[in-house]
Amino acid sequence: DLRPYAAVDAAGDASWWLASDLAELATGGRLATDHVLGAGGASTTLAQVTARTPVGRVLDLGTGCGIQALHAARHARHVVATDLSRRALGFARFNLVLNTPAEGVDVALRHGSMLDPVAGESFDLVVSNPPFVITPHAGAAGAAVAEALGDYEYRDGGRSGDDLVRDLVRDVGGVLAPGGVAQLLGNWEHRRGEPWDERVGAWLDAAGLDGWVIQREVLDPAEYAETWIRDGGTTPEREPGAWAAAYGAWLDDFASRDVEAVGFGIVTLRRPTGGARPTLRRLEEHTGSVHQPLGAHVAASLAAHDWLEARDDAALAEAHLAAADDVTEERFHTPGQADPNVVVIRQGDGLGRGVHASTGLAAFVGVCDGELAVGQIVGALGALLDVPADDLRSELLPAVRGLVRDGFLRPAD
Ligand SMILES: C[S@@+](CC[C@H](N)C(=O)[O-])C[C@H]1O[C@@H](n2cnc3c(N)ncnc32)[C@H](O)[C@@H]1O
Repeated sequence: DLRPYAAVDAAGDASWWLASDLAELATGGRLATDHVLGAGGASTTLAQVTARTPVGRVLDLGTGCGIQALHAARHARHVVATDLSRRALGFARFNLVLNTPAEGVDVALRHGSMLDPVAGESFDLVVSNPPFVITPHAGAAGAAVAEALGDYEYRDGGRSGDDLVRDLVRDVGGVLAPGGVAQLLGNWEHRRGEPWDERVGAWLDAAGLDGWVIQREVLDPAEYAETWIRDGGTTPEREPGAWAAAYGAWLDDFASRDVEAVGFGIVTLRRPTGGARPTLRRLEEHTGSVHQPLGAHVAASLAAHDWLEARDDAALAEAHLAAADDVTEERFHTPGQADPNVVVIRQGDGLGRGVHASTGLAAFVGVCDGELAVGQIVGALGALLDVPADDLRSELLPAVRGLVRDGFLRPAD
């Protein structure tokens, strides 16, 4: 399959030709177990959420047809792209030759599993759309079930449940330079009695890195099984026996670990500089639409986190902030009432967040144009709203921190 590819990432427009294996829509049958994937929805998602700050060394783990390496070659000097599949590395080489990266950018392809080919090295950025699909392994169920399930290298890393993503989150810090960032896609299990964010949060704790997880989608076990059985080219119409066997194996596998649902999302990790302890630990669900490319928003959020970490409340009170250009205010009125009963401060860009604002916070954001310091605005609002300045300060400063962190307000000095 040779087709044009176009995307906008945080570095701007990209437009290439990409070779890969033919998809099941083209062949009308099951994929081969060594199928090499073209650029799909997940590939574009990762390319678009990746921060595209100019960097030295990038690792693309599980490069497939080389799509992430091509994106990385636009803002890195050295790219190492790895894969367990030699066929994938062949496609990646072909695509790199076809879409020659800029002069002076060096792209190396390496064969091997997960972090093995880069052990002992360090990277400023690691990107990976790894083989994260949670897949039953037939084992005792026998050869017929194994045949029905297929054994797809492009999506199944061969481990149980979501262990592959857990291990990658835990281990990737070993190849990150201080300040280096890893951006990964993954699936995680929602197990009965264990909130997903606690489970994935424990992975972040084990990693010892700054961590930010955005859960973008949740499927129940049946939806998940159907999605991936179809993705491999098995349909109930064409292969009813294999469909039923694979479906049953998937549901049994989930049931064996009390899995009630499967989350999909974006994981951003960062190795703190100077041996410092991690300060960022955020796990959130955001299943609504987002404003892609998110890469610049991710980079700005990490920078805003650092800016806030460096300031206690006294220093924050001296800072000058300005509302970002994409911020608007939504007011909800009971019919006939002059004053709104709900005010939402809305972000048009990035994750499109909305924050319910008190009268004080809405007024604060309204006057944030960089002119007055935070403390001056709080003092003036206290007098205007007839609220003791200290009370207003305790109410507003945590909310202001949240707005800075999420890009509604930006340092103006
Ligand atoms: C979902 S595809 C991603 C391809 C491409 N990076 C993209 O974004 O579209 C996962 C890739 O990981 C590779 N892979 C599978 N098992 C692996 C392993 N143990 N180590 C490294 N790569 C592996 C597969 O061959 C496949 O190319």
